[in-house]
Amino acid sequence: MAQTLTFLGLESSCDDTAAAVVRHAPGEAPQILSSVVAGQEALHAAFGGVVPEIAARAHAERIDLAVEEALAAAGLTLGQMDGIAVTAGPGLIGGVLAAVMCAKGLAAATGLPLVGVNHLAGHALTPRLTDGLDYPYLMLLVSGGHCQFLRVDGPETYARLGGTIDDAPGEAFDKTAKLLGLPQPGGPAVEREAAQGDPRRFAFPRPLLDRPGCDMSFSGLKTALLRARDGVIAEKSGLTVQDRRDLCAGFQAAVADVLAEKSRRALAAHPGMTAFAVAGGVAANTVIRARLTDVAAAAGVPFLAPPLRLCTDNAAMIAWAGIERFRLGHRDGLDLSARPRWPLDQSAAPMLGAGKKGAKA
Ligand code: KG4
Ligand code: ZN
Repeated sequence: MAQTLTFLGLESSCDDTAAAVVRHAPGEAPQILSSVVAGQEALHAAFGGVVPEIAARAHAERIDLAVEEALAAAGLTLGQMDGIAVTAGPGLIGGVLAAVMCAKGLAAATGLPLVGVNHLAGHALTPRLTDGLDYPYLMLLVSGGHCQFLRVDGPETYARLGGTIDDAPGEAFDKTAKLLGLPQPGGPAVEREAAQGDPRRFAFPRPLLDRPGCDMSFSGLKTALLRARDGVIAEKSGLTVQDRRDLCAGFQAAVADVLAEKSRRALAAHPGMTAFAVAGGVAANTVIRARLTDVAAAAGVPFLAPPLRLCTDNAAMIAWAGIERFRLGHRDGLDLSARPRWPLDQSAAPMLGAGKKGAKA
């Protein structure tokens, strides 16, 4: 009988410094005993994107505090852990190093096993943490830094079916908000405006829908939005409230159409999935979520979206992925390296571009 495992998880690959404690008894649902996330939005707000040096310094200053807080919130000590899981990539290298060095220090001092985790695996395995989903399932990661379809066959077995060849959709939402004078993060602001807009007034492109496969592109949409905005301004010397709403609605409809059609293709090409799961901040968008729910229903599979706090960056997913890898016998030594790029599917062609939140896998 496998043992009950309690893992400390650490995450610092982007702009959230996070630590969490997760416990799993075989045959039972995993328990998140604590999950601490310290965001850095305020530190980067003035720069319009994450500044790697600022992020790295903030992670280095905060990671040990996050660990202390996570242990205290769980009511446990380091000595009561069975292992330490840490994001070892992909991400902004200075940031990744902060948690990796902290985890190595803790492992060296306590003798606890150390498990390096791929950040994307953390996202991809979250539906097992939240809902006990069985393999194989289809996952769409869609956030400010990620956009890819993954077929998840096991804790270390992934096939990337396609992804963005340039920007992530969250980035496009953020850029759209910026171009229209709306606040950051752009996604929720654009969604609010779009709710009262006409999605048919502006004809935005649906990039790559004319090509087979599941690859996507969102950078052209930003340019289309800029042109449409400038067209209205040239005509009327300004944007009315309704112009802005219609631009947001048209943009959002284009993103939703692309994600829905590519999801439909991914599901059609991979029958027998236990579910279609999403993760990432963009999955919070109610219009996009409704479209993806319909696509899953049409394919005859359940749709699953973990709670938002577990869809976005956190360390509970890292602790959980660490437990899954540990159960497969995986251990890392103190020579564990931080990796800026680390594709989950080593056989897939490398992806192009690097989002505002750093290198994509
Ligand atoms: O997963 P996340 O918190 O961070 C990473 O990118 O890793 O995702 C943040 C992204 C931002 O780009 C934000 O604008 C977008 O998710 N987002 C949304 C919505 N809420 C957040 N995009 C569209 N609609 C939303 N309601
Ligand atoms: Zn992430």
